[in-house]
Amino acid sequence: MKKRIVFAVLAGLLLAAGCSGNKSAENTVGVIMPTRSEERWLKDGSAIKDGLEKLGYTVNLQYSDDDIPTQARQIDDMISKGVKCLVIASIDGSALSNQLANAAAAKIPVISYDRLLMQSPNVDYYVSFDNYKVGGQMGEILIQGLKLDQATAANPVIVELFAGSPDDNNSVGFYQGAMDRLKTYFDRGVLKVPSGQIERTVIGTLRWDAAEAQKRMENLLSAYYSGNVVLNGILSPYDPISLACLEAAKAVGYGSTPGKPLPVVGGQDCIVASCKSILAGEQYATVLKDTRTLGAATVSLVDTLMKGGTPTGLDTSSYNNGAKIVPSLLLDSVIVTRENLMTAVVDTGYHTAAALGL
Ligand code: GAL
Repeated sequence: MKKRIVFAVLAGLLLAAGCSGNKSAENTVGVIMPTRSEERWLKDGSAIKDGLEKLGYTVNLQYSDDDIPTQARQIDDMISKGVKCLVIASIDGSALSNQLANAAAAKIPVISYDRLLMQSPNVDYYVSFDNYKVGGQMGEILIQGLKLDQATAANPVIVELFAGSPDDNNSVGFYQGAMDRLKTYFDRGVLKVPSGQIERTVIGTLRWDAAEAQKRMENLLSAYYSGNVVLNGILSPYDPISLACLEAAKAVGYGSTPGKPLPVVGGQDCIVASCKSILAGEQYATVLKDTRTLGAATVSLVDTLMKGGTPTGLDTSSYNNGAKIVPSLLLDSVIVTRENLMTAVVDTGYHTAAALGL
């Protein structure tokens, strides 16, 4: 009797182990985010993980410390562990072709998350915001904040320009969208860039590194703004870059010297520190790309693929990654200023009032 019970318990344990082993292999989704050190990717990672877990999937979520070989290794590791779908937010969009080929060989669908995976035919879907429109909003922020429609060529508005990481395809959309929106003001001579640094490759910020941007801003201020020239605005593609540029400007008296108000600066990602800065009247605005919506869209796409379905309603013309047009799901973003921050950010629960110190 005793023996029989022991046997039954053992058999039960083995069965349970076997089942859960199979189940987790069948059910696992690999999710890879570029870094833990930026607020948004933490939000993205948890939105996807929580959403997928609620649907019963097992999630292997990894962060790559902004290190390309680490990211490549993590993907290879997930493939060898038998994940059934991969969601990848790349560091360098062109650096993962071997891993993507391995995924394709193992018949694992790949979703390019937020940043487009480039130069590879082995990218199945792209889920992001409309990056060109986001760039347009960055331009719009300067048009509103600097009242460019009232400016004249006799008294031009002075700005400097910053772009995102050159190895991130999103930087192209942000830059192009912003510059197209601002073109008419440059053409009319009401907007000027004293440094002459305008090309995306010249104004880029590798790995979106705020410290690098701050150094560049400091250099620009000392090289081109030593006389009476006052910097009125900064095109910034990312909140930490905006805050770093504001620091550099403050360090040379902006915001505390008569005739030198803080420059008008936009941004992107709606991070807590920038929301606080906007409420304090320093950073002028940001672009909110709701990571919860992006996460939910991704979860639903993964769910469709895991069930063997075919996603519908995708954009099949906008995003060519150099090897193919990648079917895309593109969401809308929102400009956030002091006027709508409470309704757009706090009331929607994106950040709590307490997180913003309210
Ligand atoms: C971009 C992303 C932005 C911002 C930036 C820095 O790819 O679209 O929202 O997060 O990376 O992480």
